[in-house]
Amino acid sequence: MIRAILFDLDGVLVDTDTLHYQAWKELADRLGIPFTQEQGNRCRGISRMDSLEIVLEGSDRIYSQEEKEAFAQAKNTRYQQLLSALTPGHASPGAHVLLPELRRRGYRLALASGSKNAGLILERTGLGRWLDAVADGNLITRSKPDPQVFLTAAELLGVPPRQCAAVDDALAGVQAGRAAEMVTVAFGDAALHQAGDYNIQSLEEMLPLFPPLEAGR
Ligand code: BG6
Ligand code: MG
Repeated sequence: MIRAILFDLDGVLVDTDTLHYQAWKELADRLGIPFTQEQGNRCRGISRMDSLEIVLEGSDRIYSQEEKEAFAQAKNTRYQQLLSALTPGHASPGAHVLLPELRRRGYRLALASGSKNAGLILERTGLGRWLDAVADGNLITRSKPDPQVFLTAAELLGVPPRQCAAVDDALAGVQAGRAAEMVTVAFGDAALHQAGDYNIQSLEEMLPLFPPLEAGR
């Protein structure tokens, strides 16, 4: 029986995946490197430095570690500038209805995001108020597809992994949920690949999957 639902953030609860893409694309343009939407999709779920490696695929230059760290820093500065315009209205359609409804139905809810900017995003969108626990990029050492962030979220909630569902828009995220032995709900891009146990394109489709839990069970 599923008792807890663990949500990825970027691309699930808020469409910051497009802002990640924009900030990487601006960096790639500055370096004169092509950067496609397909590459942007492969950046979903994985760490900032791993994403940078995908951005640099199109370059014939070898960059030093120092240069790479400067690029990642520049991207993050631009990304945070884009995040500063976020408001509660920027949460994904239905998020501010779905989360309280799932809580009303008896589920415990947590964030399971690899982003170090998760706190800022939760605060600006007001989504943090619906969550019982937050596992983010500041708490983990291994990025998705490693299951660490989902396992950390389950532990913070005190719910066994097999009683958790993991919701993610990234192939790496769905793999992480599966590696954590959780039920997986693929959203958006990952659902196009039929990667999850369930595959959905809108948050409203979550409600029939998670009926009210019986009190006392
Ligand atoms: C994930 C995004 O949520 O967070 C990735 O899907 C991103 O694209 C990763 O690289 C790390 O995010 P941040 O905000 O710490 O650079
Ligand atoms: Mg995501």
